Amino acid sequence: MPQPNAANVKSIKIAIVGAGSVGVTTAYALLLDGLAADIVLIDIDKNRALGEVMDLSHAAHFAQARVRVGDYEDCADAAAVVITAGVNQKPGQTRLDLVKTNYRLFRDVVPRIAQHAPDTILVVATNPVDVLTHAAYHISGFPLERVIGSGTAMDTTRFRHELGKHFGVNPRNVHAIIVGEHGDSQLPVWSLATISGMRLRDYCKAASIEYNESALEACAKRTKEAAYEIIQRKGKTNYGVASVLVSILQPIVTNSDAIMTVSRVGTYGGIEDVALSMPCKLNRHGAYQDVPLLLSESEEAALRRSALSIKEVLTALEG
Ligand SMILES: NC(=O)c1ccc[n+]([C@@H]2O[C@H](COP(=O)([O-])OP(=O)(O)OC[C@H]3O[C@@H](n4cnc5c(N)ncnc54)[C@H](O)[C@@H]3O)[C@@H](O)[C@H]2O)c1
Repeated sequence: MPQPNAANVKSIKIAIVGAGSVGVTTAYALLLDGLAADIVLIDIDKNRALGEVMDLSHAAHFAQARVRVGDYEDCADAAAVVITAGVNQKPGQTRLDLVKTNYRLFRDVVPRIAQHAPDTILVVATNPVDVLTHAAYHISGFPLERVIGSGTAMDTTRFRHELGKHFGVNPRNVHAIIVGEHGDSQLPVWSLATISGMRLRDYCKAASIEYNESALEACAKRTKEAAYEIIQRKGKTNYGVASVLVSILQPIVTNSDAIMTVSRVGTYGGIEDVALSMPCKLNRHGAYQDVPLLLSESEEAALRRSALSIKEVLTALEG
């Protein structure tokens, strides 16, 4: 992927709304990546944000970028605004209650971003990310390419990691994607998964290794359950998602037409006005183009089920 040069980085501002675990780790990953010269953290808890910025600014010393606490007016001219503000599920709280709380938060936060940064690109990470990407699109009134959910970019990364371990190859050399919901109804696109240009069955034949369907299904299951397992052990996930958010910001800043599975509002499996992840081309205009996928019949059906399950939440939210 092209790296930003010093000249264009000088003018790149990225704002992050939500200086919690995901927001701050994203700011740190951005610093290390050298992708922005000006990183603004906005949080309702200004004191916490200030503490994080004081700490981060010592890392910024080595990266030569500026990190600061800001307010919504500081989103002006940002190349992108990443939204990680939100509450996590509390004991006894239903998923729908959580959705309602974070939806209310978006109704407060998104108009303020849009007011000060009408030309920016929104990158949503707050969960449930597909529902909130849909909300951010409708609340902001931005064109759909400028409202991107991190979606299954995270799951695709985890899936390649699992398959790489299984086949003993670098995950970068595994071409396999997860599409649909960033959640339980996500689907691995087995029919198009390749290593070294070969479908997985052909690769196994060529490499004289067993095509072990149940082991591959276990890779997809671990992918889907990774977040639950990490949260059970450490209470949150932050490093993986922060790196994924930076990888989404990369093509926006470098205008490099990367193909990624990100969430965007559209019609999927015949279900209109829903956000979920499919491969898209990303550049400085945002997630500006669908990349067509030739799914198998059963994958098409699974995609429709995924779209329907997100639509159900949207309908309950409106009810
Ligand atoms: N998309 C993904 O792959 C992915 C991965 C991990 C976490 N997440 C989601 O990211 C979100 C943040 O997770 P976290 O672990 O950083 O949580 P966190 O509790 O550490 O941080 C949330 C931050 O949001 C701030 N906040 C709350 N209301 C606000 C408001 N109205 N305006 C501005 N800031 C506000 C809080 O003060 C807090 O600092 C959650 O919804 C989580 O589920 C998504």
